[in-house]
Amino acid sequence: MIKERILIGIPGLDEMIGGGLIKGSTTAIIGTYGTGKTTFALQFLFEGLINGENCIYISLEESEENIYEKITDRGWDLEKYKDKSLFVIKLDPTDFNLSINSIKNDLPDLIKSVDAKRVVIDPISLFEGLFDDQSTRRREMFRFIEMMSNLDCTLLLTSETEQNNNYSSRYGLVEYLSDTVIVLMYIRPSDLSEVHTALEVVKMRRSNHSREIKPYEIQEDKVNVYSEASVF
Ligand SMILES: Nc1ncnc2c1ncn2[C@@H]1O[C@H](COP(=O)(O)OP(=O)(O)O)[C@@H](O)[C@H]1O
Ligand SMILES: [Mg+2]
Repeated sequence: MIKERILIGIPGLDEMIGGGLIKGSTTAIIGTYGTGKTTFALQFLFEGLINGENCIYISLEESEENIYEKITDRGWDLEKYKDKSLFVIKLDPTDFNLSINSIKNDLPDLIKSVDAKRVVIDPISLFEGLFDDQSTRRREMFRFIEMMSNLDCTLLLTSETEQNNNYSSRYGLVEYLSDTVIVLMYIRPSDLSEVHTALEVVKMRRSNHSREIKPYEIQEDKVNVYSEASVF
């Protein structure tokens, strides 16, 4: 079967993953706070928007206003897309029934009704945290990702890391359930000079990908991944 690819919209990173994500796949972006998960997720949606795709952004952390501000800060024409091709939905991560119902039932219906091609849940770790035991969480996440993989959209999930482990998501599930896993991390040089950010494509099913750790920088209007540079 031909693997159709879609760009994330971050050139150096698209290059590292062999020309983009596989259409219809699930990707996890794992990183501690401030590493750029939300920015990467927005960049992924923007790439879809400029190509005329409908996009859904489910926020469990930041308010809709914050997300809209982040979009305009990046110089993107929000009014052109807002509620036309970009649907931003804030869920309350403390409201168990509402949030679960929204993600398990309403989201699939919305994806179908607007024919969304790109969907972000940021961060999925707050959704996972709604389940109070690991076996329920594992079962629900497995079902959710399986259900999403049957829809005609490409899914991007973000997750906080488990404390002190850059490579493990908060609940240790999404990295197994996703087709592609990208880890964002801080690199603190031993001489305590400036902190750098770097990323690694840890896993990509059905695809060849770079295994190197590459530096990246978040700029006002774009993300630069220096795929030619080396962090060490
Ligand atoms: N418009 C911008 N201009 C410059 N730097 C930015 C901009 N937006 C975000 N950043 C930088 O990116 C960092 C990560 O932001 P964010 O994507 O919200 O991280 P996360 O979702 O992982 O917590 C911010 O702390 C800031 O340093
Ligand atoms: Mg964020």
